[in-house]
Amino acid sequence: MRYVEAGGARLSAIGLGTWQFYAPEWGYGRKYADTVARPLVARALDLGINLIDTAEIYGLGRSERIVGEALGQRREEAFIATKVTPVLPLAPVVEQRARASLKRLRTDRIDLYQLHWPNPVVSDGPAMAGMRRLIDEGVVKHAGVSNYKLARWQSAERALGGPVLTNQVRFNLVERRPLLDLVPFAQSEGRIVIAYSPLAQGLLGGRYDADNRPSGAIRRANPLFLPENLERAAPLIDVLREVARSHQCTPAQVALAWVIRRPNVVAIPGASSVEQLEANAAAAELDLTDSEDDQLSAAADRFEPVRGAAVARGLAESALETVRMRLGR
Ligand SMILES: NC(=O)c1ccc[n+]([C@@H]2O[C@H](COP(=O)([O-])OP(=O)(O)OC[C@H]3O[C@@H](n4cnc5c(N)ncnc54)[C@H](OP(=O)(O)O)[C@@H]3O)[C@@H](O)[C@H]2O)c1
Repeated sequence: MRYVEAGGARLSAIGLGTWQFYAPEWGYGRKYADTVARPLVARALDLGINLIDTAEIYGLGRSERIVGEALGQRREEAFIATKVTPVLPLAPVVEQRARASLKRLRTDRIDLYQLHWPNPVVSDGPAMAGMRRLIDEGVVKHAGVSNYKLARWQSAERALGGPVLTNQVRFNLVERRPLLDLVPFAQSEGRIVIAYSPLAQGLLGGRYDADNRPSGAIRRANPLFLPENLERAAPLIDVLREVARSHQCTPAQVALAWVIRRPNVVAIPGASSVEQLEANAAAAELDLTDSEDDQLSAAADRFEPVRGAAVARGLAESALETVRMRLGR
């Protein structure tokens, strides 16, 4: 495993995302939570993955509980990142939510505590006052944010009166906006960008096409998985396959290697099996060349998914299809 060090933290370049743990919206169900999720955590640690990302909202606390149970005696091998849902981002609320997360995670320390998204109405001052107290008490080691634009990340730092070590954002070959400002900021200031959905929710794994779409409400509601967009993504997947062939690896591994090739960036793919997790961990050792990087970026530039109003009808049809599948009709 390769590690990224900044601000006194050491994070594996590939982490483990755990939104999937007990999340009906992924369609993985109870069996996954019981038989796959815990082994995923144990195997992640075996492979040197220390960054385990969860959130109080995932499975309404169940993801944190599963992570806490699965870590057991191996807690010190992990860098636990969890998130507070900033619906009422006031200092006492943030402090109370952190203590509830500690219980579910069966620990006395959160290594990285992230505001899950920017509250559109309330500024970060009050939440960061709570965060500051948690840090001073040793309950939280590092502060983080998620889904923040650069200006708000910087203003969160001013509110905290110290570094907000990480910003967790959607970052993959299809969504490359973080390259414009967040990644350069992280590199120049010693911060870290945590890339979520680094596989574009599995699209970049190359398993899906217009005739074989994933089930589960989350991806049915993601415009990237509409048949027309899956068709449009085919040339990009072909380039991923071509690069993968020359490294004897898989398109998903190439997609992950592309993300974490940038300094001060780590990725937290979710996984539906232990085999996927093992492959994802191995992507940290994959060295792409500059020319492969350019080839992938150029292919990603050419991918123009249908967006906006044009996707509304497709998504409505997908939603209906999901309901019909649930009703067994
Ligand atoms: N902060 C936020 O707002 C936010 C938002 C979203 C996610 N996140 C975090 O980021 C994590 C990852 O993001 P994500 O789950 O949205 O998307 P992702 O990691 O891009 O996609 C995960 C899915 O890709 C497929 N996959 C994984 N490894 C693969 C491999 N080696 N080969 C082929 N397919 C593979 C699996 O689905 P199938 O096998 O079923 O195809 C898996 O469930 C989440 O678990 C969560 O911790 C945070």
